[in-house]
This record gives sequence, structure tokens and C-alpha cells, in this order.
Amino acid sequence: MGRKTTVSLIKCDVGSLAGHHVVPKPILNIAEKRMEKAKKKGLINSFYVFNVGDDIELLMVHDKGELNEEIHRLAWETFQEAANKAKKLKLYGAGQDLLKDAFTGTVSGLGPGVAEMEIEERESEPIIILAADKAATGVFNLPLFKMFADPMNTAGLVIDPAMIGGFKFEVTDIAENKKIVLKCPEEMYELVALIGEVKRYVISRIWRAEDNLICASTSITSLTHIAGRYVGKDDPVAIIRAQHGLPAVGEILTPFMHSYLAAGWMRGSHWGPVMPVSLRDAKCTIFDGPPRIVALGLQIADGKISGDEENKPLIADLFDDPAFELARRECLEYTVMLRRMGEFEPARLSSEHMEYTAIAQIIGKFKDRFTLKSEK
Ligand code: F6R
Ligand code: MG
Ligand code: MG
Repeated sequence: MGRKTTVSLIKCDVGSLAGHHVVPKPILNIAEKRMEKAKKKGLINSFYVFNVGDDIELLMVHDKGELNEEIHRLAWETFQEAANKAKKLKLYGAGQDLLKDAFTGTVSGLGPGVAEMEIEERESEPIIILAADKAATGVFNLPLFKMFADPMNTAGLVIDPAMIGGFKFEVTDIAENKKIVLKCPEEMYELVALIGEVKRYVISRIWRAEDNLICASTSITSLTHIAGRYVGKDDPVAIIRAQHGLPAVGEILTPFMHSYLAAGWMRGSHWGPVMPVSLRDAKCTIFDGPPRIVALGLQIADGKISGDEENKPLIADLFDDPAFELARRECLEYTVMLRRMGEFEPARLSSEHMEYTAIAQIIGKFKDRFTLKSEK
């Protein structure tokens, strides 16, 4: 039996530089300092702070299990301090994802997004982190399906005897707050029927079927459902285990060889093509996008992120690679095509899925000017 270790990835938009573009250094520094202090105190064993666009991402590795109050409080207080600094600097949208005033034991339901996974460390434990900006929670449905269920993507599903038993997918219905587990390959068609509706059904967890080994965990926070109104995009994160009876790192990255459409982008109200990018390019520009995705690779060993001589975590910036040029190029081509359509569906989301819309006001304003077609 391996050592039990928890990987927690908690993220939040507390305000950014130049509109919703990027988290500036002073805000990241606050997060670094808080994390360093928590490490010295022994609350966490390792951490890595980064940003994707306007979201701060706190990757923490510790021994305290999932939904742990101390870990969630650490993230909450870090975001609060960062939001206060953002307010002082008059950054844009300061404190925007901190939807509640009081901490209530975990950050769930308070605004920040959280993906967590307690694992029993294998002999060698490669982990991939995915993080998106300007995208709704369902953005990982398609790639996760490909990684863990599509034999045309993942050779291991047909070649590796350890994977032939298939995988189980937990799907969360974010509108009704319900979940269901579906097993692939047997229930693949039903799974696709649900997760194809990316605005509602989100893959939240994946296990290897034969031994229930946890393989993936994603954040399913829906800010709109918490606040009951548009307050920004969910910009989700995912933690995925790789290799040795699970999809290889290359099989996890292959779905990103092509761009695909996600709900989000400008004002959370458009279909936007995702662009896999390095940390350096994880900042949104054209039409507040296009939606960006970052992939980081690391190894977990003895409760920590494997580090260098100075104990600095070793992090592979996986999309920092010409192999993803084609996806980036496709993304720009789709961007041009969709933006040519302006505010006409399907470039714009249908009104029930738009994060906010002036349609109701327009209809209200003109209610007396609408007449029955039969009247003269
Ligand atoms: C999308 C996003 C941005 C904003 C847009 C308008 O998630 O954050 O596209 O919706 O820049 O922002 P406000 O309403 O703050 O001017
Ligand atoms: Mg934002
Ligand atoms: Mg964001």
C-alpha cells in the first residue's frame, strides 16, 4: 500500500490587470508568501502558484485529505488577502469570485473552483494539471472522454491489459446538483449523450473500473448557479493521473492536438475555440480570449511535488511545444470564422445559456410596439 497524499488545486479570480487579462505579479507574490508560510508550518508539503489569464491557481500537496477545513481556509484567506491587494491597486474585478463573506468549512459554494484527489502513491506518480480561462466547466468533457474512453485516442485502451476493463465516469448535473456514474465501454453512448451537453453535464471524477483507482478529478463550480446571476466564467481545473495502466502523458495531451469549441469567451456568452498554450501565453486578448488551456506535468513522491536541489517543484509546461502549433492555428482560424458572425447564433450562445443578456430589457422596452401579426 502506497502513501496517502492529497493534491488540491484551488483557483479564484480576485482581480486582474487590464480588464480580465492577466494576474499581475504583486498578486501572485501574496499567494507565494502565504503558501511558503503554510509549508514552513507543515500544513502543506509542496505548492506551486501560477495563473491562467485572470485566475490565480494554488496547487497544494499535503496529507490532510480532500475537503479539509485547514487547507480550504488557507486558500480562502490567501484569496482574501490577494483580493484586498487587488482593491488597493484598483485592479479590475477585484474580489470578483469571492461570492460570500464568511468561510464555512470549505470553499465549496463560496466561489473559488476546487479539484482535489487523494491518492495512494504508486511507485512513480506522474500527474497532469489542466487549467482553463474564459471557459465554462464542461470544457474538459471532450478531452477527458477521449483520454479515458476513446480507443482512437488512447492506444492503451486496446493495447494495455491493465486498461482493458475500462473506466467509470462520474457525471455531475450542475443544474440539478445530482450525479451519476457511467461505465465505459458498456455505457459509452449514454455517457456521450449526457456529456455532449457541456453546459449542464460535467465529468467530475474518473476511476479505473477493475480496481476503482481514482484517475481524474475536476472542478465543477458553477458561479452562476451559486450567485444566481452572471459573475464571471468558471474557468475550471482538472487533476489527472498518468501512465502505468492509465493513459500515458502523450495520450492525455493528444486531444489537444486540435482546437474545439467551448462555452465562455467574451462575456461568458459565446462559443470559443480553445487554444492550448504555455504559461507564458496564458493570457486572454482577442474578444477576451480565445479561451486558453494550460497543461502542467509533475511527479508526486513522498507527499510532495518532486523538486530540484533547492526543493523547488519540477514543473513541465507541456503545451510549450511546437507540437501544439496546429491546434493554435486552428483556434485562430475558428476565431476568425466565429467573429465574422458577430452576435448571430451559433457564434453567440442561445439566450438561456448566455451569462447575461439585454434581450429581456429590449423586449420589455418594446412591449407596446409588438402587435399581433393578424392586426393591421
Ligand atoms: C468572461 C470575462 C470577460 C468579461 C468582459 C466584460 O469570462 O471575464 O469577457 O465578461 O470583459 O466585463 P465587464 O462586464 O466587467 O466590463
Ligand atoms: Mg475574470
Ligand atoms: Mg478567468
